[in-house]
Amino acid sequence: MPRLLVVHHTPSPAMQALLEAVREGAALVDEVELTVRPALSAGAADLLAADGVLLGTPANIGYMSGALKHFFDTVYYPCLDATVGLPYGVYVHGNDDTAGALAAIERITKGLRWKQVAAPLGLTGAPDAAAREACRELAATVAISL
Ligand SMILES: Cc1cc2nc3c(=O)[nH]c(=O)nc-3n(C[C@H](O)[C@H](O)[C@H](O)COP(=O)(O)O)c2cc1C
Repeated sequence: MPRLLVVHHTPSPAMQALLEAVREGAALVDEVELTVRPALSAGAADLLAADGVLLGTPANIGYMSGALKHFFDTVYYPCLDATVGLPYGVYVHGNDDTAGALAAIERITKGLRWKQVAAPLGLTGAPDAAAREACRELAATVAISL
């Protein structure tokens, strides 16, 4: 069964609501095994065992969280050759601006030569029903692509 890895930084109730929606969306796809790892504890072994990855982070000071950056710093060279073409998706939540974080993530995933299989999701403000639904759809889209 294909394995979907969610690598997330979830430091607040808003981020937790989005992560729960991601879990629900992935669960809509029967034939996918879900692994969820906080970005500060995820490593190369998690990534190498996955067939696709969904990244989730708050926007912090115009960039991705240090936690998700730490994940990339950890896996970049160990996984550079082995994860070419890896399907991925991403969600970023911020108070008012997610563009810098999304651009930085895109730059790194381009370097890794991963394949974006769902539109990047930038969300701002308190996560309402539409935001949670967008996360469900994102997770289901990445899961189906596997
Ligand atoms: C140190 C720090 C820097 C932040 N920088 C940004 C930022 O540049 N842009 C933005 O939209 N939100 C920023 N935020 C807000 C976070 O993205 C937000 O707290 C996070 O998405 C969780 O949402 P919540 O606080 O509503 O639960 C920042 C938060 C912190 C703690």
